[in-house]
Amino acid sequence: MENNTKPTKIVMVCLGNICRSPLAEGILKSKVNTSNVIIDSAGTSAFHSGALPDSRSIAVAKQHHIDITDQRSRPFKIDDFDKFDIIYTMDTSNYNNIIRLARNKNDEAKVKMILGEGKNVPDPYYGGDHGFQNVYQMLDEACNKIAENLKNK
Ligand code: 4NP
Repeated sequence: MENNTKPTKIVMVCLGNICRSPLAEGILKSKVNTSNVIIDSAGTSAFHSGALPDSRSIAVAKQHHIDITDQRSRPFKIDDFDKFDIIYTMDTSNYNNIIRLARNKNDEAKVKMILGEGKNVPDPYYGGDHGFQNVYQMLDEACNKIAENLKNK
């Protein structure tokens, strides 16, 4: 069947774009029709620009049959405000950093916390594998809700 609706464009944002936001991108892609929803991810920093996701994120995604090895880290750019409809940040630090870049109220209105206001997806970078399992579960639940809301659009 022909689909005339414009795709919703979503970008997931964390600090490095190697741990949390690549998982969020991969998980949400697994739950939606990617012809109707365009999903990308980015970092508030360029620390890891060009790098593969962290091996621990790749591993936890693989345990759930999700392949994120096609992703490469990139920094968030101002024109992402024009390219995307919704910007999901992982924690309050990411949120504040993106809000600081907003040029106007329209940009600001696109920025959300993926778990809801005031709730952080903890940065797992300096922790062990358990942190990545925890992040996966949090993002899986959040993406179930996002996918459900997209269906009702
Ligand atoms: P992410 O995790 O923001 O979930 O990708 C991090 C990755 C790298 C660093 C910090 C957090 N870092 O400091 O290099």
